[in-house]
Amino acid sequence: MITAHAVELRVGARVLLEEATFRIAAGDRIGLVGRNGAGKTTLTKTLAGESLPTGGQITRAGEVGYLPQDPRTGDLDTLAMDRVLAARGLDTIVRGMREAETAMSSADDETRDAAMERYTKLEARFTAAGGYAAESEASRIASNLGLDERVLGQTIGTLSGGQRRRVELARILFSGVETLLLDEPTNHLDADSILWLRDYLKAYPGGFVVISHDTDLLRATVNKVFHLDANRGELDQYNLGWDAYLLQRETDEKRRKRERANTEKKASVLLAQADKMRAKATKAVAAQNMARRAERMLSSLEEVRASDKVARLRFPTPAPCGRTPLTASGLSKTYGSQEVFTDVGLAIDKGSRVVIVGLNGAGKTTLLRMLAGIDTPDTGEVRPGHGLKLGYYAQEHETLDQTRTVVENLRSAAPDLTDTQVRSVLGSFLFSGDDADKPVRVLSGGEKTRLALAALVVSAANVLLLDEPTNNLDPASREEILGALRSYEGAVVLVSHDEGAVEALNPERVVLLPDGIEDLWGPTYADLISLA
Ligand SMILES: Nc1ncnc2c1ncn2[C@@H]1O[C@H](COP(=O)(O)OP(=O)(O)OP(=O)(O)O)[C@@H](O)[C@H]1O
Ligand SMILES: [Mg+2]
Repeated sequence: MITAHAVELRVGARVLLEEATFRIAAGDRIGLVGRNGAGKTTLTKTLAGESLPTGGQITRAGEVGYLPQDPRTGDLDTLAMDRVLAARGLDTIVRGMREAETAMSSADDETRDAAMERYTKLEARFTAAGGYAAESEASRIASNLGLDERVLGQTIGTLSGGQRRRVELARILFSGVETLLLDEPTNHLDADSILWLRDYLKAYPGGFVVISHDTDLLRATVNKVFHLDANRGELDQYNLGWDAYLLQRETDEKRRKRERANTEKKASVLLAQADKMRAKATKAVAAQNMARRAERMLSSLEEVRASDKVARLRFPTPAPCGRTPLTASGLSKTYGSQEVFTDVGLAIDKGSRVVIVGLNGAGKTTLLRMLAGIDTPDTGEVRPGHGLKLGYYAQEHETLDQTRTVVENLRSAAPDLTDTQVRSVLGSFLFSGDDADKPVRVLSGGEKTRLALAALVVSAANVLLLDEPTNNLDPASREEILGALRSYEGAVVLVSHDEGAVEALNPERVVLLPDGIEDLWGPTYADLISLA
């Protein structure tokens, strides 16, 4: 159980949360929602004990499993399976048993006997900790999250960001702790895994908080909704399921709007009154106070309006290029002994739209990275056509320099722009003056996505390579990005689990991985998108 009393959260000069009191007890299935940058991640991190609130107290009884939004880099040499097993301390026992097994086949009698003795002891401990059942439970959870035996046998360092996050999620679910804090758990999951997670959460005996923009997941699992209102810095707590919450919230918003209109009316009455009184010397002070009060009332309304905005986006007209700006042929990639794909070829014509479809681990991100010139293929080559200008959007935002500020990142994407131009682009992506000077590492998930897209916008690219561009975006920002994608005139190569994103792209062609087969787009492939 987690108890939060009068918790306040501030970052820099901004108050994210003024004062919130709540409890997460067994049976509480809480959906935490709010727009990008509202402070959801900051709140969960604080609940997990990874940072302290600026005010109030948080107490934790029982263990907490926390899945952060960004993939973490723990010990990169640990095997993925050991990382999962470690959640119940099984990893060291299993490793010891494996070593003893090897020693048991030794030709030397003494070594063999010692190993057998060791094995017996370890096995007893293993059984006490849940034994083979626990180990197979770990494998089952992992495989339901799209991690197969092969991946589990790899070290964390060799896994993609998405795979690492799935390993973390498997570890947390396997640990069997009392309270779960999951920040965007579905970001790297395929449709089957999402369905499985949904059922898992529905039956979870403890309490949990889940942050998600996936409304189907919320509808299916939560019995409470906490809405973090970025305008007011308040946590609205609804003891309702998802659909009932939506209705109630609409009513509440309407009421607030009415109240705002009232405030506006009151303020203008005050101002008018102040104007009249100002003429009289005896009332000048009172008039000034009145005017000040009215201005305060109005300025709080102004803030609400400003922060309700969503980035109005348009990708600019792409730079001119030849008929086929990008070609690739005979691409292959192998990691260790694992062949990811072999002999994949691709020709991206000017203005064409291509979707890459494949199961988890089929190499979609790898292919995009090769096209972007970041990874080198084992065989084959990527050939830029005449006038090619690439724009690459990376799933984990690794194109952004985490240590530098928002402004600096954008400036390096478009060195020719003046400072004023850079600030104006940032403004249209909703980065205000203060935000623009933040280092990228403190940005929220959605803010990083916005910045990475802003960098694409300024580059006048004629081929966009987009890897899951809608992850992390709140519904309003997502719509905006999809709208921009719809009207973009350049070529797009898209990797996405988001059916809406593929629909917006309206692709002509599809490339199926790992076989690299190309086909015309059709409704049968649409069904594959969320499955992939
Ligand atoms: N150290 C810091 N300094 C300044 N601002 C910060 C710092 N840490 C976080 N912020 C800001 O606090 C706000 C809340 O961030 P947070 O990551 O909690 O948002 P979020 O609700 O999880 O958003 P998203 O839906 O995009 O993941 C953001 O505007 C972020 O830029
Ligand atoms: Mg977040």
